[in-house]
Amino acid sequence: MQTVVVVGLQWGDEGKGKITDLLTADAHVVVRYQGGNNAGHTVVVGDQEFKLHLIPSGILYPGTLCVLGNGVVINPKVLLEEMDGLTARGIDVSGIRISDRAHVIMPYHPIIDRLEEDSRTVGKIGTTGRGIGPAYVDKYNRYDAIRMVDLIQPEVFAERLQEVLERKNRLLKDFYGHEGLNYEAILKEYQGYADRLRERVVDASLLVNEAIDRGDKVLFEGAQGSLLDVDHGTFPFVSSSNPGSAGVSAGTGVGPTKISKVLGVLKAYSTRVGEGPFPTELPDDEVSKLRDGRGREYGVTTGRARRCGWFDGVIARYSIRVNGVTSLVVMKLDVLDNFETIKVCTAYRYRGELLREFPSSLRVLAECEPVYEELPGWNCDTTGARSYEDLPKAAQAYLEKVAELAGAPVDMVSVGWRRDETVIRKPIWG
Ligand code: IMP
Repeated sequence: MQTVVVVGLQWGDEGKGKITDLLTADAHVVVRYQGGNNAGHTVVVGDQEFKLHLIPSGILYPGTLCVLGNGVVINPKVLLEEMDGLTARGIDVSGIRISDRAHVIMPYHPIIDRLEEDSRTVGKIGTTGRGIGPAYVDKYNRYDAIRMVDLIQPEVFAERLQEVLERKNRLLKDFYGHEGLNYEAILKEYQGYADRLRERVVDASLLVNEAIDRGDKVLFEGAQGSLLDVDHGTFPFVSSSNPGSAGVSAGTGVGPTKISKVLGVLKAYSTRVGEGPFPTELPDDEVSKLRDGRGREYGVTTGRARRCGWFDGVIARYSIRVNGVTSLVVMKLDVLDNFETIKVCTAYRYRGELLREFPSSLRVLAECEPVYEELPGWNCDTTGARSYEDLPKAAQAYLEKVAELAGAPVDMVSVGWRRDETVIRKPIWG
């Protein structure tokens, strides 16, 4: 059995897209299991850059089956736009399949997402505004949800939309003072999407389990990161799904006994978008060296500048535990190429007490001060390194410190955006 989960161990944007893309070279199936078009992956192939939100990055390899599992919330408009954009650039999208049990993002979801955020003076989450949270709310409240299987049956969809839109319009008008949405317009628009997507809607659990049983290599691609996990992240400043490895089974219908490896992806430093405490965050006047230049720390989905800071060993250790990570990938090491010294956080200090474990209370986290160890920088270009031995000794020492703090081996290191700018110490498949 060769099944690998790729999970982000920080607040998303660790560079999972590049790793998924690399591993897909040998994979038969790539599966997304949660989230939606709040995600953004940048993949660089030759001199071409691809920005993907919903479609697994595996699409860039011809013949790969790319599956959107039942745990994903699907905006059909965005999905079709993404498919059309790829087709226009000569990419074959015939391998895309969508779970019949996946939930659909409807036009009122992004509207409610934004109105809800705007209505808050305190406690804003800083969502991407893509309607992800409201779509999951409808899934769990069970009254107003529309699944792919409903969308592709014209009569069922027309009926469901009528019931649901009546309630949503009441909410929009009476609670938010919005003008409401038109039934006929949505019906027509979504029936058009259904006609284009129908043939791709399948029992994805069956499809993926059959692939695993015949020995195919299957990659589960996590979006966002472990600290944005609704159960294990920095709640409430989290997304509304389970980006962690535990999300795979619920979000695909593949049992935990069929998962053989969990690959944790860490950036060599830390970033976060949206609100919420961030212990190792750098102040505005120091952030530019990480954010600009090679770091390019601006959101793929929203263009927002990311908050940046030093590597946090407390978070790494915590995320490895909750995800059962078996090996680590360290991304963007090259962004640290021009620092005299580099700090890593080894523990937190909270009201005079030393904390080694990540706290559940955000009030505690907000008061935590990082305890740093300062390591020498390497002050040279690492982008040409193709083996561990090619890396300067100070960079090797940095990676060893990361592995020691995190408690897992570093099997891969990324030293640039391109596919070949990667050091592989131990093959992941096999
Ligand atoms: P939502 O997922 O749009 O509801 O946003 C909830 C939180 O997750 C916000 O802080 C977002 O900035 C964050 N978030 C959602 N998707 C991503 C992502 O792909 N990368 C980084 N942060 C994300």
